[in-house]
Amino acid sequence: MNINYIHKIVAGIALTVVFSSCVKNENSFGYEYMPDMYRSPAQEAYVDYGEVRSWKSNDSIKNTQSAKLPPMGTIPFQGVNADPAYSMPYKRLPSKAMIVSHSAMSLEYSDEDYDASALDVNPMRMFESNVEHGKQLYTTFCDHCHGEKGAGDGIIAEKGLIVPPSNAFTKAEGQMFYSITYGKGDMGSHASQLNQKERWQVISYIKSMSGGVVIPDALKTLEMEKVTDIIGTGSTVELLPETLAGH
Ligand code: HEC
Repeated sequence: MNINYIHKIVAGIALTVVFSSCVKNENSFGYEYMPDMYRSPAQEAYVDYGEVRSWKSNDSIKNTQSAKLPPMGTIPFQGVNADPAYSMPYKRLPSKAMIVSHSAMSLEYSDEDYDASALDVNPMRMFESNVEHGKQLYTTFCDHCHGEKGAGDGIIAEKGLIVPPSNAFTKAEGQMFYSITYGKGDMGSHASQLNQKERWQVISYIKSMSGGVVIPDALKTLEMEKVTDIIGTGSTVELLPETLAGH
């Protein structure tokens, strides 16, 4: 085989490669070598990334939104936490000391808001489903320090690591909410573990431990006055003058 013949073959292959990139579809890029090098797949919010390229798909990430954590202060409008009454930003600010000790995420502070929070009323009624859910949350997030009955004798306290006071749960409900939200002393903030609704549910459970009257779920659809007729006014939770449906 002489050298000219080899040149012809090489030139022929090169021409085939070059012209095979020409395709009839004017929207096509033709054949590309390593296309990722030309165009990186742009990350866009809310795109179904199951389909990475028309010819290559990754089903494990199909239907996965690329948008992950929403920005701070975002209010959910769908899903289990959609209830706007519980999703609005907490109106009380952490104290200046808390911002330092607990890295509370706020640029503003108020050294009066803890005291003021004593006036905040639990917006949720003591329905058994709320109390029951509160109990589950308490068992998961609080029991190990505060103990099963809230006497400050959880397993961590038994080991002498962190010992909560035995009267922690005698505080006003609003103050409990404040401390669960921002933390207090050796107790960290539980705002990332419990949404606002769940914090109030835990407080309802805490109230039920010390004798707060639990209302049967069956009474949810009744008018407020009728519920008061049935359970009396002995409840430690102040009932607000509106219908109970939806809470
Ligand atoms: C790591 C242990 C620990 C965990 C977990 C914990 N706490 Fe506490 N808690 C404490 C300590 C310690 C205090 C006392 C803080 C102080 O007054 O310095 C306290 C105080 C409190 C108080 C009284 C706050 C006040 O204003 O005086 C409440 C209410 C409370 N905790 C509720 C809870 C709830 C509800 C949970 C679960 C969601 C929880 N804690 C989880 C350790 C813990």
